[in-house]
Amino acid sequence: MSVSPNDPAEFEREIDLDAQQRGGHHYPHHAPSTEHVDRSDHLDRAEGAVVRMDEIVAGYIPGVNIINGADLYAQQGELVGIIGPNGAGKSTLLKALFGLVKVRSGTVTLEGEDITNMRADQLVARGIGFVPQTNNVFPSLTIEENLQMGCFQRPQAFTERFEFVSGLFPALADRRKQRAGSLSGGERQMVAMGRALMMDPSVLLLDEPSAGLSPVLTDEAFVRVREINKTGVTVVMVEQNAARCLQIVDRGYVLDQGRNAYTGTGRQLANDPKVIELYLGTLAKA
Ligand SMILES: Nc1ncnc2c1ncn2[C@@H]1O[C@H](COP(=O)(O)OP(=O)(O)OP(=O)(O)O)[C@@H](O)[C@H]1O
Ligand SMILES: [Mg+2]
Repeated sequence: MSVSPNDPAEFEREIDLDAQQRGGHHYPHHAPSTEHVDRSDHLDRAEGAVVRMDEIVAGYIPGVNIINGADLYAQQGELVGIIGPNGAGKSTLLKALFGLVKVRSGTVTLEGEDITNMRADQLVARGIGFVPQTNNVFPSLTIEENLQMGCFQRPQAFTERFEFVSGLFPALADRRKQRAGSLSGGERQMVAMGRALMMDPSVLLLDEPSAGLSPVLTDEAFVRVREINKTGVTVVMVEQNAARCLQIVDRGYVLDQGRNAYTGTGRQLANDPKVIELYLGTLAKA
């Protein structure tokens, strides 16, 4: 697909077209309310998911739970978004999935196998890629060296994976000898995503791929995320940029105080008056 990353209007058209194509693909047209009242919807739909989290309780400090019984799933090939206020626990939920925060109760499974509290390096070997919210590149290393770090568990795959990542991010290949610390925010984000893709993950976890980016670069980052998703990678993405995020995802979760507040397709959430009022409107930004 040829999408000019510098043309947000084109981005909009593509989003619309894609939403039409996806309409009703995974979900019935007469979808239920998006408010998360009980777990039955999750239990019905999470069956067979690539990755799923059930009733997760997690936190950093003993006795203080940040995640309070959250559920999440992603089916093969889905692009799933997590939005919610600052401090809601979005990053913590991703970290709990990736073995960086202790899961106190609940389960995490990958392709049906229990991976709860498995170490991050083991999860990488099993096909999960993670791009953290901050400090996600090695600034003193070159682009190429950063990408090498991404597949240090499987160095023989470097050439083939470098070619794949270069296809997605041609700018990285052109500047492979440049130190990551000298790159712009948008370019660093590409390096971070590229690094995570070096192991050919089946599931990619992205924590705020648009953090610190201008609106145009945000659109570009989202277009890249969709391109990655279209290659077959299941993506779970946390985003601060909630309205934009809901435009591109198949499905979304609103996380609030470590709990699922609302869930539904991107379109359902974006059009839900309660979600607009509480999480997307001017009140939400105040
Ligand atoms: N390393 C840590 N040690 C102790 N508490 C932490 C740690 N990291 C985060 N927290 C706390 O956990 C809560 C949730 O933080 P988290 O980073 O998951 O939120 P978030 O939804 O990602 O927010 P943001 O939108 O600002 O990125 C916050 O109250 C935060 O202070
Ligand atoms: Mg965060």
